[in-house]
Amino acid sequence: MEEAIVRKKKIFSGIQPSGELTLGSYMGAIRNWNALQSEYDCVYCIVDLHAITVRQDPAQLRRRCLTQLAQYVACGLDPEKCILFIQSHVPEHTELSWILGCYTQFGELSRMTQFKQKSQQHADNITAGLFTYPVLMASDILLYQADAVPVGADQKQHVELCRDIAQRFNGVYGDVFTLPEPLIPQVGARIMSLSNPANKMSKSEPDGCVNLLDKPEDIRRKFKRAVTDSETVVRFDPESKPGVSNLLTIYAAATGKTITDAETEFVAGGYGNFKAAVGDAVIELFRPIREESERLLSDKAYLEGLYRLGAERAHVIAQKTLRKVHKKLGFLPR
Ligand code: TYM
Repeated sequence: MEEAIVRKKKIFSGIQPSGELTLGSYMGAIRNWNALQSEYDCVYCIVDLHAITVRQDPAQLRRRCLTQLAQYVACGLDPEKCILFIQSHVPEHTELSWILGCYTQFGELSRMTQFKQKSQQHADNITAGLFTYPVLMASDILLYQADAVPVGADQKQHVELCRDIAQRFNGVYGDVFTLPEPLIPQVGARIMSLSNPANKMSKSEPDGCVNLLDKPEDIRRKFKRAVTDSETVVRFDPESKPGVSNLLTIYAAATGKTITDAETEFVAGGYGNFKAAVGDAVIELFRPIREESERLLSDKAYLEGLYRLGAERAHVIAQKTLRKVHKKLGFLPR
């Protein structure tokens, strides 16, 4: 009897090395990356080309890329199961980006929420790179023919644009690209800032942001100061209690409990106890990651070997897609 050949689904995602990895990027993305790696063909990237859309200090960027790789591994991403690499090491990303830019509308890019926000934040440096950033992101995803892209809620719009670009290209040239779906977690898709729960937790607001490598005392202090409200009831209600709801989400995601169970657990005891318990849960979640990252960072040769091998493996896949694209476009073979 003939066996059906089942193609393993392909996954691609990346994080910018523009700061430390945060609780937000862990809950929104990395946790899901981990869960997917045993079942699918996963490619995870450190997107340094994206990071330079705003100014970076060269020495710091170098250090952050290596630290981020160590953290990927320390979080449980297994280099035997998935491909881990650095975006600038695989030149096909920028090559395909130019091509896809010729299939993307100015109007589409103008509508991107992240562009609008970042061009406000960096009003003195609104570069073409910041504007065309989603095209590079589409290239990342399409080069690996990804079926799904595990990201937090803020990246959904970019994945949808990627899909539109792919569909447009396929419409002209036939089935070149797989159409990707965003994969957004049920809990933790949008972790809010601890100091201002109306905003997303992000590296640009350090007070409200918890980093994977923060010392336990710093994590404890940040949670202790977390903004809540003038009531005393621990209840999940993102509209009228954004601070408390965010803390409940973090607690549920960190412990694997449901939000309802978490509400019951803190029904008595006030906000002080509650905030301390959420802080402790995050400290325990990150402790092994921090310790393993530190251990890995002391072995630079291992990390270098890892990213070189990752780039080689990624390049093989990326090259195949780019060749196909060149052929479809009518470029003469080299
Ligand atoms: P970046 O580097 O801003 O964030 C990395 C990932 O973490 C998620 N995330 C969050 N999730 C929940 N709550 C938060 N507060 C939070 N903050 C960040 C993001 O949704 C993201 O999944 N453009 C991307 C990087 C990128 C990429 C790609 C992603 C480049 N190419 C291809 C997927 C596929 C970005 O800036 O993510």
